[in-house]
Amino acid sequence: MATLITGAGLIGCHTAALLAARRDPVVLLDLHPDPALIGSMVPLDRVTLQAGDVRDRGAMLELFRQHHIKAVVHTAAALSMAIRTTPTLAADVNFGGTVNLLEAARQVGARRFVLASSTTLYYPIFHRPQLAPVPEDFAFHAVSERPASLYAASKMAAEFFAQHYADQFGLSVGILRYSAVLGLWRGPNNSVPGRLLATLLGQGARDGLVAMLDPLLLWSGGDDFIDARDVAVANVAALDAPALPGRVYTIGSGKLALFEDFLAAARAARPDLRYTDVALPGTGFAGFAHQRTQPFDVSRAQSELGFTARHDLASSFLAARPFAVS
Ligand SMILES: NC(=O)c1ccc[n+]([C@@H]2O[C@H](COP(=O)([O-])OP(=O)(O)OC[C@H]3O[C@@H](n4cnc5c(N)ncnc54)[C@H](O)[C@@H]3O)[C@@H](O)[C@H]2O)c1
Repeated sequence: MATLITGAGLIGCHTAALLAARRDPVVLLDLHPDPALIGSMVPLDRVTLQAGDVRDRGAMLELFRQHHIKAVVHTAAALSMAIRTTPTLAADVNFGGTVNLLEAARQVGARRFVLASSTTLYYPIFHRPQLAPVPEDFAFHAVSERPASLYAASKMAAEFFAQHYADQFGLSVGILRYSAVLGLWRGPNNSVPGRLLATLLGQGARDGLVAMLDPLLLWSGGDDFIDARDVAVANVAALDAPALPGRVYTIGSGKLALFEDFLAAARAARPDLRYTDVALPGTGFAGFAHQRTQPFDVSRAQSELGFTARHDLASSFLAARPFAVS
């Protein structure tokens, strides 16, 4: 009886490390698992590395049967930068891959399925004044407030299918919408927050001067950041919870950070940090059209998962400093 973690990336490896530390049997699946990279975070004698593609439905079912998979943390995905160049990844990997894993979990009678989703789902409503922290069950107009990117659309579609696998087949599903994740990671930084962190810590190392040239890495208004160590704790809490009555959980800090706050935290890890003059855009984080004024309501994760983020921005930068690359 093992737990399958799909995606040996930033979040998958942090989660595998926690499960391995308590000696849970773990199968860690990735397209091309890199033992040196994974081994820098997870003792390799405590996880089974598996090369595989979540797009291969037959192979996924075979994997579940072969390893007696009883629980899943599904993090494997194409992130927004990859989808910009290869849009079909959103459908094939993020949506189709999730359906393949839900189906395999249903067929073997898995006891829990934790799905990595994203707070990018909330962004289209930020053009309306938000009067209170934003809850999981937010109201949106299905046409004019549709998901703001193919990535977000693929995450929402995957969420809906996961919900129906729970409703119709009794699969115990937990959908965790992570906010922007920062973390210790020497692998490729595929996410926007990962690239932002690597830019501030990795470039211009000689004199501390960083060129902030990519408009996606600048924002106005606030955004929520969370440490990958906290995300891993939330994943394990969702695996362990006796029940998940809310089913969907925002995993964030519950706080808003302005661009200036982010740079101030970066200076905690890199006091010599200077950056070229930047004109902040009128847009929100990661190029989303609207600026945010309200944090997320993270109380459901607190009450049902017992989860609260422990690491602040400065702590994330300090932890990531030795591993950031440009
Ligand atoms: N990093 C963030 O800021 C963030 C924020 C919100 C949600 N998320 C979600 O969290 C999850 C993990 O993100 P991450 O930051 O660890 O990303 P990551 O890119 O570091 O890891 C994803 C892993 O999935 C693997 N993968 C991609 N396609 C695959 C396939 N077809 N079959 C098997 N493996 C495949 C990649 O090789 C990679 O190692 C994703 O679902 C992502 O959408 C991330």
